[in-house]
Amino acid sequence: MSALSVFAPAKINLALHVIGQREDGYHLLDSLVAFAPVGDRLTLRPAEGFSMTVSGPEAQGVPTDHSNLVLKAAALFAAHTGMTGGVAFHLEKNLPAASGIGGGSSDAAAAIRGLLQMGFGDASSVQARVLGQLGAALTRLGADIPMCLSPEPQRAQGVGDDLTAATLPPLPCLLVNPRVGVATPAVFKALIQKDNPWITTPPQFADAQDCIAWLAVQRNDLQPPAIATAPVIATVLETLAALPGCRLTRMSGSGATCFALFATPAEARAAETALRASRPEWWCTEGTLGDQRAASAPRPAFN
Ligand code: C5P
Repeated sequence: MSALSVFAPAKINLALHVIGQREDGYHLLDSLVAFAPVGDRLTLRPAEGFSMTVSGPEAQGVPTDHSNLVLKAAALFAAHTGMTGGVAFHLEKNLPAASGIGGGSSDAAAAIRGLLQMGFGDASSVQARVLGQLGAALTRLGADIPMCLSPEPQRAQGVGDDLTAATLPPLPCLLVNPRVGVATPAVFKALIQKDNPWITTPPQFADAQDCIAWLAVQRNDLQPPAIATAPVIATVLETLAALPGCRLTRMSGSGATCFALFATPAEARAAETALRASRPEWWCTEGTLGDQRAASAPRPAFN
């Protein structure tokens, strides 16, 4: 068996409504999610036992011990499927950690996709009940892991694990992180209103303009509490809104990464160039959302 490389794309919450809270404290969400053509890359090599190394521009501070979500997800996979053998994982870390774009969850989901692709615990031969239990365990590990198992546009409900495929037009996008890590539990804790109305079912969008007009009347309910926690997020949103051609700005997940949507890829590229010059201390990268089907594998039937 040779090495396998799996892409772990950035997850963007184009809209995120918090519509309630469960008795265990987890919040009920209704979110429209897309994936960017930028992300981490996970390489899997057959080995004895599980191990992990990390490199790349955002590797600093990323643990390589069993606290890393990749190794935690692999351990869950082995426990549920009875997998024998092991894998040496190498993670090329390109996405900033704790930044609202699913980095750790996307890496963990890439590990599961990779293990299945390598033929460990073949999904079709494992009983549905076992896969359901693994899916539930992965959701407890990271609420964004289920949506990252199939990195394509989708509506995420429940705690983020009730997923329905969505269709999006290509959306030229600029992602910006002001290099402030935001702790997700702290943002949920600072949320005051926890029963906002449902997002409406995403319609069939005629084009990017139609989609952006629909998104403009949606929200990210975590944006106000995240700004209260990290006020620089408001500066990021103001800076993005002032860029030529910017059609919509919003924060993703629990922040601090924000995104701006543009009508054309050329406008998004020009905005990245301008922002790199004016804010060299911020992480920023452009890419078109809803346009990376080649990066994804068939969805494992976990839920
Ligand atoms: O996404 P992740 O599993 O890393 O979430 C971290 C924390 O954020 C959870 O332990 C929980 O406190 C909070 N959370 C929540 N409702 C969700 C997702 C996360 O309250 N749907």
